[in-house]
Amino acid sequence: MEFRPTLSILLHALLLFQFLSESRARDIAKDCDNMHGILKIQEKEQTSISPMEPLNSQLNIFFTPKDLNIGKKMPLFFAIKDPSTSPQLLSRKEADSIPFSSTNLPYLLDFFLFSKESPQAKAIEDTFFHCEISAMKGESKFCATSLESMLDWAKEILGHNTQLKVYTTDFIKKSPVTLQNYTILQKPKEILAPKIVACHTLPYPYAVFYCHMQKGENKLFKISLLGENGDRIEAAAICHMDTKQWNHDHVAFRVLKVQPGSSPVCHFFPADNLVWVPSSSM
Ligand SMILES: *[C@@H]1O[C@H](CO)[C@@H](O)[C@H](O)[C@H]1NC(C)=O
Repeated sequence: MEFRPTLSILLHALLLFQFLSESRARDIAKDCDNMHGILKIQEKEQTSISPMEPLNSQLNIFFTPKDLNIGKKMPLFFAIKDPSTSPQLLSRKEADSIPFSSTNLPYLLDFFLFSKESPQAKAIEDTFFHCEISAMKGESKFCATSLESMLDWAKEILGHNTQLKVYTTDFIKKSPVTLQNYTILQKPKEILAPKIVACHTLPYPYAVFYCHMQKGENKLFKISLLGENGDRIEAAAICHMDTKQWNHDHVAFRVLKVQPGSSPVCHFFPADNLVWVPSSSM
């Protein structure tokens, strides 16, 4: 049951590969006007937000383990991903033929036909910042520009002789409503995994994933949610049990009104994120 998402993603990638081998890389940028609109939760998750700034509704993804009870109601943000406007996944061969580094920024803006002042240029710059900044203590990170490179890195972290399993947030029934109250329908299922690699999308003209693994105790959950309007989501979520090393300005502390290090911090994954664990996990 659990390996089905992997299969469909692989098939999707294969189809894209066939399609892309016929097209030129420059076409990639053609329909990525939507790029800067991509949810940048991982950025908000990692950088501080001034205490004066009102909280964005997209930050309604955080919770604490105390919330993990049947019947618990909380306002959550989940956006539908429109595959027709999402950045395309490139094959490794194609991705490797395009430089991916801030040192090539002028060349890349030219290549993708974005002006220096455009929001897309800003988004690309931000993405490089996140990919090139050194990892936090106890964190391993990698930016993947193809599914193949993502899998290679996940195997490096989780074990070369291990089969991998992927967890995602799945929409069973989803309206365009982004923020609403959701109720936990069943006892959340903990996926017991020795190590977890979480991959978040970053805004870029083609699909780029920020993958990372945090040392220390992390718990992965599948949580059945029912929205007030009948939306049904099988959500993936992670709890970071030890937040002592975290930046005190981390927005999660402000959202949850907890002190750094005093409480675990959990968050739901948006629907386009991929969470990899060894397949022996259950
Ligand atoms: C969720 O429910 C609470 C209390 O029932 C209500 O005050 C709040 O406005 C609701 N939030 C949303 C986003 O609908």
